[in-house]
Amino acid sequence: MPIVQWNTGFETGIGFADTQHQHLFEAVNRLEAAAVGPESSIQVARALGDLMDETVAHFRAEEACMQAHGFPGFAAHAGEHTRLLRELERFQASLKAGQGLPPGSADFLADWLKHHIQEVDMVYAPFLKARGV
Ligand SMILES: [Fe+2]
Repeated sequence: MPIVQWNTGFETGIGFADTQHQHLFEAVNRLEAAAVGPESSIQVARALGDLMDETVAHFRAEEACMQAHGFPGFAAHAGEHTRLLRELERFQASLKAGQGLPPGSADFLADWLKHHIQEVDMVYAPFLKARGV
């Protein structure tokens, strides 16, 4: 059963971000399924790697867009992204050390994503929309 499900409450109205956010939800669900299922640690590592790749690509796209339009909250927003990437690296290090995914990792990621979209991404949405994004 998925731990995060998309609904219109997560819609920023910025097309590329909404599409990528939905893919991130799916990637978190795949990680959770791999972590609780009978999959090998290699498959969990692959699911985490895919999530990291998608997250990095998404943050780059968002940050490039905010910078291109001179969004005043850029630095704080990018700081939130960096903090999440550090967490993902910590999860990856735990897997590499043979200690598995830290307990609650997928739930943490699901909560982070929901909170970040609704409280942080929603702040850039009207600014970018007003500039034709
Ligand atoms: Fe963001």
